[in-house]
Formats: sequence, C-alpha cells, structure tokens
Amino acid sequence: MKTKKMSLVEKDQKYIWHPFTQMKTAGPALPIVKGEGTLLIDDKGKAYIDAISSWWVNLHGHSHPYIAEKVYKQMRKLEHVVFAGFTHSPAVELCEKLSKHLPANQAKFFFSGDGSSAVEIALKMSVQYWKNKGENKTRFVALDGAYHGETFGAMSAGARSIFSAPFSDLLFESTHIPFPKDEQAAIKSLKTEIAKGDVAAFIFEPLVQGAAGMRMYKPKTLNKLMQICKEEGVLCIADEVMTGFGRTGTTFAVNQVEGEPDFICMSKGLSGGTLPLSLTTCTQAIYNAFLGDDIQKAFLHGHSFTGNPIGCTAAIASLILLEKKECQAAIKNIAKSHETFANNIKSFEGIKDIRQTGTILAIELKADSSGYASKIRQQLYQDFLDQGVLLRPLGNVIYILPPYCIKEKELKKVYEVIKNKLMSLA
Ligand SMILES: Cc1ncc(COP(=O)(O)O)c(C=O)c1O
Repeated sequence: MKTKKMSLVEKDQKYIWHPFTQMKTAGPALPIVKGEGTLLIDDKGKAYIDAISSWWVNLHGHSHPYIAEKVYKQMRKLEHVVFAGFTHSPAVELCEKLSKHLPANQAKFFFSGDGSSAVEIALKMSVQYWKNKGENKTRFVALDGAYHGETFGAMSAGARSIFSAPFSDLLFESTHIPFPKDEQAAIKSLKTEIAKGDVAAFIFEPLVQGAAGMRMYKPKTLNKLMQICKEEGVLCIADEVMTGFGRTGTTFAVNQVEGEPDFICMSKGLSGGTLPLSLTTCTQAIYNAFLGDDIQKAFLHGHSFTGNPIGCTAAIASLILLEKKECQAAIKNIAKSHETFANNIKSFEGIKDIRQTGTILAIELKADSSGYASKIRQQLYQDFLDQGVLLRPLGNVIYILPPYCIKEKELKKVYEVIKNKLMSLA
C-alpha cells in the first residue's frame, strides 16, 4: 500500500517543538521558502514584509548576496576551529572593526553564540571580577520590566514574568528598580540598593526595553544612572542585544550617552541576522582582574562554537554594509518616516501611547490587557499577516522594527495596514 507523502507542515507538526509556543492551540507554522530584501515568501508564493526584522536580527534584508558570498568563501577556507589556543583572521578583524563603533573604554571581546549567553557571560564576569579582587559582591540591579534572555542567569536578572514563572524557585535574587521614565524614582532606588553594599553590577537595556513592549527612556537619564554606578564602584552592563547596530539611530544606544559602560552585550544584528553569534565586550580594567599566575583567576567559560569563523565573516560583511552611507541614510529616513506617521495617527482614539527611538516605532493600544497573553495580540498578528505584513505585537503594543533596506513603498504598506487597523478599532 502506498503511503501518502507528508507535507512540510505535517512533518513540522510531527517533529518540531517551536519556541514560545503553546503547541496544543497554535495553528500550523507558515512554511517560508525564500527570503529576499525585506520580503519573506511562503510555499504558495505569497510575500510578507518582514517589519520586525525576524525577531530583531536582520539588518540588510534576507539572504543578502554580499554576506552570502563572503560566508561561502569563508566556508571553503575554514569553517571552524577550537578557539582556546587558536585564533583566525575573521575574529580578529571583526573586533578591530567593531572597536571603532564602541565606546573608547571597550578593550576586550569575548565570543559566544546568542544574546542570552552574551548576558550570562557579563553576569559571570562581574561576579568573578569582584571575587578576583577579594570582594564578595553577587547581587544584580536591573530595571523593572527587564528582559535579558532565557538562560538561568539572564532570567534571574530579568523581571519576573510568565516566561520565568515555572523556574521562580531556582532564580537567584536580583533587584528591579523603577523604570527610568520616572527618573527620580529610578535614581532614588538605585542609590538605596547600592548603599546595601553587595551590588556586583547594574544591567540595563539602554534607551529601549524590547520584550517589555518597546518601553523607552532618555539618554540623559541613563547617563545619570551610569554616573551613580561609576561613583559608587558598581559595574554597568549595557545589554545591546536588541538595541545594537543602528536600531536606536546610532550604531549602539550607548553612543548617545556620555558615560561608558563596563560591559556591552551584543548579538542579533551582529551578524546582520545571518548566523548565531554574540559578543560580550569589556574594559581593560575588567580583563586585568582575571590575569594572574593562578588558573583559578581566569575566566573558565566557553562554548563549542565560540568565535566561529563563518559567523565572524558574516558579521564583518554586515558591518561593512552598515557603515555605507546609503545604509546610514536609510536609518535616518526610516526614523523620519516613523515620525511623520506617528504625527499622522497620534490623535487616534484607540492609542494609549505612541513612542519612537530611531528606527523603532511603538504604538500602545488602549484595548485589552497588556503582556504576552493579551487576546488582541493574536488577532492583530493574524490580520497583519493576512495582509502580507509580518508584525508581532508585544501584547497590546504594535511595533515596527524593520530591516534598513525596507523600500519606501513597503514601509508605506506597513503604515497603511496599521492605520486601517487603528481605524477599525475606533
Ligand atoms: C535585550 C535582550 N537581551 C537578551 C536577549 C536574548 O537573546 P537571544 O534570544 O539571542 O538569546 C534578547 C532577546 O530578545 C533581548 O532582547
């Protein structure tokens, strides 16, 4: 008897467990067969504008020919090598190129493979830094609403949420100060926490909190918080996993503040969204505290794919594209278009708040409860998708975070579907 050939979706349902998904109630996953520029094409030939850069990773469009070419060439030369005791030119060249964009105090680069690991490494380095200096400081201060990733350390630093709830008994304690939109409350709470004496580091998403619903605060406020940490000898960890690589209008969000953090975590846009790669950068002073004749002082941490040459090559290619004046102009144009659109819709009845930082525009709706489980989210997501636009609202917050290659007419279409939806909610 002939068995019926299973479709891709049927096979997906047979084998695959998707992230952040209730598999019982979720509909079938959408098969994407091709990506080109801002567009994702499904198996029926329908195109979707990727207005969220596929979970905030893509900078220059999908399957970018320049990045693909460089990656292919590197694949033929050296695909991977253990990174303890060995090095290679893609890793060194990437760090050299990146250092031109980073605050001047960032001296050393530690590789890993995803944003959560980059954060985990900064947390571990902070604690060990103090241990190596003979001090026992192990507590982290973070912001209300913080999201720093999925590993236990990153979850512990993050705000408690439905994501972390099943693991709450296992998370180490960290303190969450008020979101710095209320500058005075944040400053007061930070000072109080630091005064307790055991704070290893203050970790924050600079200027924009992504997963919390694209919540935004001012560079000058962040600068004040960092300044307090500096004066009190508390380390600062800037989690630029989402904000890095132009999203906020500058290459890194911390480029907009005077102060310099002790650590920067980056991933997502680092490889232009092509390959999993992340970095934790730090100051010379942090690095120096790990030097000694004793192996126990060293940072004994690493991952199999640390410093992967193909990932580094993609990252160099992506950085070259980011530095081009066309790309820098595109970042400015997206920001300007967002501003015009925001002005155009700001008086709509259904809007609770509308905010923008650089290429990120967030529209918070009055309707429904907020948060990941909000009901309106699913309806909005599906409606937008049906119209050929990939937007993945965070609860009641619709946001646009596009690849920089988005065409004017594509951006207009994104605005149009949002505006129509807002009109239908009125
Ligand atoms: C600010 C921030 N930090 C860390 C992470 C975790 O990164 P990853 O999903 O690559 O582990 C994310 C992911 O969205 C993030 O937005």
